[in-house]
Amino acid sequence: MKLVDSPGKSKGKKVADAASQDDEHHIPLGARQEIIKKFPIDPNLKNYEDTYASFNWEDAKKELTYFAEGKLNAAYNAVDRHMNDGRRNKVALYAISNDNKLEKFTFQEIYEASNRMANALRELGVRKGDRVFVFLPRVAELYICTVAIAKLGAIAGPLFSAFGPDALRDRLKDSGATVVITNPALKPKLDGIKHDLTDLQYTIVVNGDKKSLKAQEYTYEELVEKASTKFECVRTDAEDPLYLLYTSGTTGKPKGVVHVHNDILGHHMTSKWVLDLKEDDVYWCTADPGWVTGTVYGIFGPWSNGTSVVCYEGRFDADSWYELVDRLKVTVWYTAPTALRMLMKAGDDVVYRHSLESLRYILSVGEPLNPEVVRWGMKVYGLPIHDNWWQTETGMQLIANIPCLPVKPGSMGRPLPGVYAAVVNDDGDEVETGELGRLVVRPGWPAQLRTVWRNKEKYDEYFKIPGWYFSGDNAWKDEDGYFWFVGRADDVINTAGHRVGPFEVESALVEHEAVAEAGVIGKPDKERGEIIKAFIVLNNGFTSSDQLLDDIREHTKRQLAAHAYPREIEVKESLPKTRSGKIMRRLLKAWELGLPTGDTSSLEDD
Ligand code: PRX
Repeated sequence: MKLVDSPGKSKGKKVADAASQDDEHHIPLGARQEIIKKFPIDPNLKNYEDTYASFNWEDAKKELTYFAEGKLNAAYNAVDRHMNDGRRNKVALYAISNDNKLEKFTFQEIYEASNRMANALRELGVRKGDRVFVFLPRVAELYICTVAIAKLGAIAGPLFSAFGPDALRDRLKDSGATVVITNPALKPKLDGIKHDLTDLQYTIVVNGDKKSLKAQEYTYEELVEKASTKFECVRTDAEDPLYLLYTSGTTGKPKGVVHVHNDILGHHMTSKWVLDLKEDDVYWCTADPGWVTGTVYGIFGPWSNGTSVVCYEGRFDADSWYELVDRLKVTVWYTAPTALRMLMKAGDDVVYRHSLESLRYILSVGEPLNPEVVRWGMKVYGLPIHDNWWQTETGMQLIANIPCLPVKPGSMGRPLPGVYAAVVNDDGDEVETGELGRLVVRPGWPAQLRTVWRNKEKYDEYFKIPGWYFSGDNAWKDEDGYFWFVGRADDVINTAGHRVGPFEVESALVEHEAVAEAGVIGKPDKERGEIIKAFIVLNNGFTSSDQLLDDIREHTKRQLAAHAYPREIEVKESLPKTRSGKIMRRLLKAWELGLPTGDTSSLEDD
């Protein structure tokens, strides 16, 4: 495969200045574009233009199994229907533990295990609409429980296993979760905040020890052991909630994005077109199901297509990752730019120590993918890396480098059939090709967020101009209809693909006895995209020292999560604030990047 240069594009130039001021690690706009010619596989989506012109979501419904009167259950489509389509004995899940033990589960085994769990939850009194949260590492039970909750019509709440007490409390309290499924290693974090969780009724512990449990706590094993393997999937309405996933905005605590069973239509079609999943694929999505990618493209999308999925409990390590690809003969690999940059850093030799010949297709999501990584991928894997764009709120991929189109390294790709994306100004008018603006989407795709849990106001902010969904990202579009990411339009930080709200980190920081005030920004970083940097003011009586700053860092890590602590902390005498007392992160960022701070004479409300 060969990288082919296309002529320099003058149009992109218009926004080059804005972009270079915006954030230096982002792709230099107006730079010479490269094109990786069509990729020689026989993709599921063969003709982009024709399909884009003729496709509608109504027709796509025939790909799914509906109950009478248009009722639809995502779990039925992901698992149950494979009992009758010849996939009963096909491997649904390859689960590899921390110590590299492999367990295989067929679709029938997942079907029966999730039926048992659905019965067990029902026995505990869980009903349609109840929130059941899953706080587990990447183990088979996480997959089984998520499906079981959906079968019951309850709302699944994925929780990242690295969350600390603050992050857990925010999510479980706001959602009013009645059940949490966890394991012995993670349970103490939950125990420590239980007194704040008035709605919580039951805790279920996977691999639990009955003797150490208190009232209203059960082991997963004792519950499923006595439960039946027969369960009639609840005939949910397509618009009934399926899962509730908390994500960060620029202000306030994380918000609960509500998705519904109808999302499965989007999961199914995008897994077919973008992930290009075929019957014989062994597919590995490296994202944790505590994040949207791991739930949608680690569970529902691939299983709806009857694909064998890999789940790996272990942490990142270049050698182990490649070993896993060879061991299970992974064919399709969905990962993230930070992971790819770390693999690149680990070096070419590590790649060449492994065969990797099973790999046929690689994808990336979550943060800007530098063209340099794509070029490196071509060199060492002999395959282009297909970037794509979406968000927790969009619930499915909307823009992608799909396999039937040439890949433009650095670009997120083109809108999928059934999706109309555009770049607009703040009034909602589409800007010229090549001009920087807000990335928006015409509402109406199947997996669009349906509301923000108990926060209609927040939800409405996404649709502030009728006819558009505002993503919060800035982008531009080139003459060929490819979209190029420029940065966030707000203060949301993207560190190693994890979306972090500055407010959450600031709140955790000021909980530390030494911290009076805190302002948090994302600072460009070669490997992680951005790192979190905090500016703090100390309380009287505290003096800055390495030890104190370490302590503050550790405190934040413990309370929130390992990815959400400030790697850099700078102590200041005071922080710039608006008249109403809001810390001006924009100014902190300008300080950090050595950019002009603009007119700060008034420091007014912004
Ligand atoms: O800023 C964009 C960035 O990640 C944000 C969405 O984060 P989250 O809701 O956690 O979902 C991540 C997984 C889909 C976006 O608003 N982002 C996502 N994909 C890309 C991206 N930035 C650049 N290029 C991408 N391909």
